[in-house]
Amino acid sequence: MIFTIAIDGPAAAGKGTLAKALAQHFGFAYLDTGLLYRATARKVLDGLDPVAAAKALSPHDFTRDGLRTAKVGQGASKIAAMPKVRAALIDFQQKFARQQGGAVLDGRDIGTVICPQAEIKLFVTASDEVRAARRFAEISQKNETATLALVLEDLRQRDQRDRDRATAPMIQAQDSILLDTSDLDASQALAKAIAIVALHPGLLT
Ligand code: DC
Repeated sequence: MIFTIAIDGPAAAGKGTLAKALAQHFGFAYLDTGLLYRATARKVLDGLDPVAAAKALSPHDFTRDGLRTAKVGQGASKIAAMPKVRAALIDFQQKFARQQGGAVLDGRDIGTVICPQAEIKLFVTASDEVRAARRFAEISQKNETATLALVLEDLRQRDQRDRDRATAPMIQAQDSILLDTSDLDASQALAKAIAIVALHPGLLT
């Protein structure tokens, strides 16, 4: 069975948590595509050329410290605006999406560019304030220093860059379902998403 669930949306909207839980529920493979850009950006911070860094990604690059920091997030957003960087990462993502057994991918362009034929497309969002509060709570647990205002500013800057770029901008696919998680906790968001996916006839083939 080939079945792709594409999950797109702005930073810290709960895409990753939802995507991972959906993949577990349906027994599908899961890919956090943001990690590809973060791992590339981390190598660029070490001094590598962005396109060369993207082409040379290896499993070790995804386990490095600091991939989730705001600095690497901003770097990822910047190199993600480069068409040649995106081109270097597209083939892997497309193969992952159409593998046998089902796949869930979360990112910015999954339903529009990576897998326009995805059986299910969700655009997951939440208000800026809710997203910033969630990210701030995550960061505080790790003892990293930040303020809510700085986290909000960081998310807004990154979203604007991701939305305004010319290549594969973050945009809701016309045939996607909008899931606003502002007033939902993780298990409520998961229940809604499961109800949407479970109705798809492709799951039975
Ligand atoms: O999902 P994330 O916050 O880890 O992603 C980090 C950055 O990578 C994000 O700001 C933009 C970029 N990205 C992208 O351009 N396309 C994707 N499919 C996933 C992430």
